[in-house]
Amino acid sequence: MRVLTIIPTYNELESLPKTLGRLRAAVPESDVLVVDDNSPDGTGQLADEFAAADSQVHVLHRKGKEGLGAAYIAGFKWGLAAGYDVLVEMDADGSHKPEQLPLLLDAVKDGADLAMGSRWVPGGSVVNWPLYRQAISRIGSTYARIMLGVKIKDVTGGYRAFRRSTLEALNLDAVESVGYGFQVDLAWRVAKLGLRIEERPITFVERELGASKMSGNIVVEAMINVTKWGLAARWAKLTRKSPAAAK
Ligand code: GDD
Ligand code: MN
Repeated sequence: MRVLTIIPTYNELESLPKTLGRLRAAVPESDVLVVDDNSPDGTGQLADEFAAADSQVHVLHRKGKEGLGAAYIAGFKWGLAAGYDVLVEMDADGSHKPEQLPLLLDAVKDGADLAMGSRWVPGGSVVNWPLYRQAISRIGSTYARIMLGVKIKDVTGGYRAFRRSTLEALNLDAVESVGYGFQVDLAWRVAKLGLRIEERPITFVERELGASKMSGNIVVEAMINVTKWGLAARWAKLTRKSPAAAK
């Protein structure tokens, strides 16, 4: 299995070296693609230095900050074109422990089409995460679960391993969510295809360096989208059933 770990970055100068070092040590067989949105702090150049020193590290430079979703879509396309079998999503700030990546890769090896790191299944946890962030995550996940009818406990989580065929089955160009709603969007698309999704408990550790890019706008975008998608799905179901009901 050829594995590519995709790490999106925006101003992660302090965090990236440590995360890259830990990932290369913990899972040496995984190649790495840093997707940088022209970070003003020079994260992109730093990533280039790593790539120059390590043939398994690659960098995709984008012209500006276009959001997490757009960065991942570009990374997925790069990885699919390069022939990887498994494509991993991982934050740059150390919140996703590289040492736990084998849990996700094993799940894919065992047949999962999408393996998701989960804070909200037994054994999962968060460390140093402010209560309000925990609340947003739990409430957001529960709302999405009810609204979309998916069984995933941590549907906004961003530590994931996709089997290549899963991404090929999605129409990546149709994914328009830019912020964190992107994570929900993608998980829901995979669920709708009836593919096998497995959650594995992870320990999510809040970043020690740098700042989160999460904002109120991002949460609101995600909530509005989930509501729209949920209502649209119910409407589609209803109108599909109505001819039979009329008989
Ligand atoms: N290229 C690029 N462009 N990278 C970005 C952008 C962007 O516009 N916005 C954020 N990132 C990168 C960050 O540099 C980091 O590596 C990763 O995406 C996650 O960003 P954070 O800002 O650290 O996210 P968080 O800790 O607040 O959010 C976590 O929880 C969310 C909710 O559960 C992450 O795990 C998210 O993936 C998750 O959806
Ligand atoms: Mn973070």
